[in-house]
Amino acid sequence: MFKDIIQKLYETQNITDDEIKLLIDLPESEAAPLREAALKRRREYYGNDVFIRGLIEFSNYCKNNCYYCGIRAGNTQVERYHLTKDQILQCCDTGYTLGFRTFVLQGGEDLSYSDDDICDIVSSIKKAYPDCAVTLSIGEKSKETYQAYFDAGATRYLLRHETATPDHYAHLHPESMSLENRKQCLWNLKSIGFQVGAGFMVGSPGQTLDCLVADLRFLQELSPDMIGIGPFIPHAQTPFAHEPQGSLLRTLNLLSILRLMFPYVLLPSTTALGTIDPIGRELGLEAGANVVMPNLSPVDVRKFYALYDNKICMGDEAAQCIRCLGMRVKCVGFRIVEDIGNVRRSV
Ligand code: 5AD
Ligand code: FES
Repeated sequence: MFKDIIQKLYETQNITDDEIKLLIDLPESEAAPLREAALKRRREYYGNDVFIRGLIEFSNYCKNNCYYCGIRAGNTQVERYHLTKDQILQCCDTGYTLGFRTFVLQGGEDLSYSDDDICDIVSSIKKAYPDCAVTLSIGEKSKETYQAYFDAGATRYLLRHETATPDHYAHLHPESMSLENRKQCLWNLKSIGFQVGAGFMVGSPGQTLDCLVADLRFLQELSPDMIGIGPFIPHAQTPFAHEPQGSLLRTLNLLSILRLMFPYVLLPSTTALGTIDPIGRELGLEAGANVVMPNLSPVDVRKFYALYDNKICMGDEAAQCIRCLGMRVKCVGFRIVEDIGNVRRSV
């Protein structure tokens, strides 16, 4: 029965809600055919290539207070930092030498950078590295602001929708935030011409199978270029400190389902996945992921960018991480490529 559903998903990129639920909960003993189908699809579009993105966590200041996140405004115990333009360019310089051709600038919603500051940082990176893509991941902004970022040279934007179920969204976020606004931001980014990434945590508090089905349906509507998912991991200084972490198996099943529903998609095997299991990122690649995002942030600030507890690679130089990841990727039969890593919408 499972095999028929997997075959249908492989052939039509779609299955019913009930079938989705069965695959999300597929037991490990039955998961091999799902992994095989996802890998076959992945190879058709991307061969054995794994794209790398250099993640620069440039600020942990945040005006928001999401209940799951370690750098929420309400966490007074975290030491705050933000990098200067020169420090960010220094990270890019290190990254470029190591073979990175995409830089992801990620940060909290830090009000101390003006739109002009961000545009200046983006255009300076583009000027120094015209053969690289700049991705922004700095939260909800007005359409005008997004347009200014785009005009400055940013072409990709990551903004996880977190959950497509309004009640669940309200369970994860304070009243000042809304799913409606989050979705509007994603549509605005798309209409401007950004390559857009959405996504969600697996096993966030209050998440049901129906929530996950709604997440996949929303993604089908949005048709993003990138989809970021990883397990929820509790952070001690948040209201969800004592909630259980998301399941490895469920995350892997979802990665495979996503690969089959969105054959073209750029799908990272996330740091969170590597945090809940020593070979989590390798398993993610074997489940259908095709991107890894090593950390390029200066080592001395890494410990302050803890969205969740026990995050890996906290003390490792970028060069160390890329070497380590290169080996890990090779061990499961893939290879890291020095490439801007654009989406391949068709085979
Ligand atoms: N566990 C796992 N992922 C988290 N994120 C934030 N907090 C956590 C956590 N405690 C994810 C969110 C956010 C992305 C940058 O990190 O989905 O969009
Ligand atoms: Fe950072 Fe292995 S990826 S040390």
